Amino acid sequence: MRKLIAGMKLSLDGKMEGPEGTADWVEAWSDDYGLTPQIDACVLGGGMYPGYEHYWTAIQNEPEKPIWITGGAPTPAEIAWARFAAQTPHYVLSNTLTSALWPKTHFVRGLEEIAALKQQSGKDIYLIGGARATASFIDAGLVDELRLIVYPLIAGGGKALFATSERRRGLELRKVQQLPDGRASLIYGIGAAGKTA
Ligand SMILES: NC(=O)c1ccc[n+]([C@@H]2O[C@H](COP(=O)([O-])OP(=O)(O)OC[C@H]3O[C@@H](n4cnc5c(N)ncnc54)[C@H](OP(=O)(O)O)[C@@H]3O)[C@@H](O)[C@H]2O)c1
Repeated sequence: MRKLIAGMKLSLDGKMEGPEGTADWVEAWSDDYGLTPQIDACVLGGGMYPGYEHYWTAIQNEPEKPIWITGGAPTPAEIAWARFAAQTPHYVLSNTLTSALWPKTHFVRGLEEIAALKQQSGKDIYLIGGARATASFIDAGLVDELRLIVYPLIAGGGKALFATSERRRGLELRKVQQLPDGRASLIYGIGAAGKTA
């Protein structure tokens, strides 16, 4: 079965974004989890999809121009992700969104459609976010691996990754790596549905 792998950039206090609605401590939104070679589909929540599509469309269209979230020009890794994203199916969990700019975007209305996607043949699937969607996918036992990049910062307010989690779930620490600028990469395996040790 294909694995569903979540990759998130967090402050040390578990925030995906600060109180003003962005994670301004993140310098680039490229795939820094090493996932690109092993995936051929992306999953994300309807809350983040419009902003995500806007961000990567801007880089696809004008790769030399500064982008509004980071304020700088896209990095080479962001340009690589923008190209990869344009060719890769994206499955968006939403009961309200109905249209997307990208022809390979599909809307899914329930978690069972993601469970079915995992049963299809193919490479692994990248769960891009956001907070609510990731917490509910983990609660439903659909996420196999969590790749976190933890920034050396206490954000205080803002949106926490696990704010809406409803179940206790044991994790298996698979890899720890020190990254530049005080960041840490943590990879956890997540047990099958029902295993909550
Ligand atoms: N730091 C990072 O690495 C990182 C990564 C990704 C995103 N983010 C941030 O995360 C934020 C978005 O997170 P979010 O929590 O607001 O939204 P989200 O997780 O992207 O989407 C939540 C939405 O998904 C839909 N949904 C449908 N069924 C659902 C279910 N069973 N469980 C959960 N959601 C369901 C609902 O939209 P409908 O009402 O349309 O059904 C719900 O409002 C963005 O601001 C983004 O910047 C940060």
